[in-house]
Amino acid sequence: QAAGPLAGKKAIVTSGPTHEPIDPVRYIANRSSGKQGHAIARALAALGAEVTLVSGPTREPDPAGVKTVPIESARDMLAACEAALPADIVVCAAAVADWRVASAADQKMKKEAGALPPLQLTENPDILKTLSQKTDGRPALVIGFAAETEKVVEHATAKRARKGCDWILANDVSPATGTFGGDSNTIHLVTESGTEDWPAMTKTEVGKRLAARIAEHFQTGHSV
Ligand code: PMT
Repeated sequence: QAAGPLAGKKAIVTSGPTHEPIDPVRYIANRSSGKQGHAIARALAALGAEVTLVSGPTREPDPAGVKTVPIESARDMLAACEAALPADIVVCAAAVADWRVASAADQKMKKEAGALPPLQLTENPDILKTLSQKTDGRPALVIGFAAETEKVVEHATAKRARKGCDWILANDVSPATGTFGGDSNTIHLVTESGTEDWPAMTKTEVGKRLAARIAEHFQTGHSV
């Protein structure tokens, strides 16, 4: 039996990129390394939570004491999250592809002289929004990230309302920040009570601070 302030709580964390197939050998992806999501999963488990980590392809080792479910596409990620319900806490740190190729080719697409492949895109399911807006069995605390390159807090505040999640961790992902793939992050925590600016810290420290904040939320019953 786990000990700690989150003992008895179930958490789902998403992490890493998704890979959206174009054909059997090609895919659409992004630069997420999974470092941030995996650090959050580790920190929640360290406080006693029972954690399911739903992760796209990364080089990060599976965290000890966490159930890791490897997936590739956004649709797989949603299905794995749904299968892990019910949960008390959800943290969506994954960089989910917003679009996928509408009909991925069954065979490797052939390069033909003078012809470009017509890649028709379609929208992927929004995992954070789907879990936030559940009418039956909604997790008590749903937390998303907002990856922005300008007007970070303003866009994150709007995103929190649009998705219907409880908290949003806004981070600047402009290339100069090195947030995608790097070891550190600078977070603005947006809740219904306002915004809190955290100093730059390692992704491991972000995970620990977030886990401590979540534990405090369940202990006090307050939002922040
Ligand atoms: O993996 P690292 O290299 O450590 O980098 C960490 C990170 C930059 C990927 C991470 O800190 C981060 O910002 N994750 C969210 C990336 C993202 O896709 O943000 P977004 O603003 O596009 O999406 C907003 C939220 O909706 C996110 O919680 C995202 O997980 C979620 N989402 C988005 C689209 C979708 N189809 N389903 C989702 O659940």
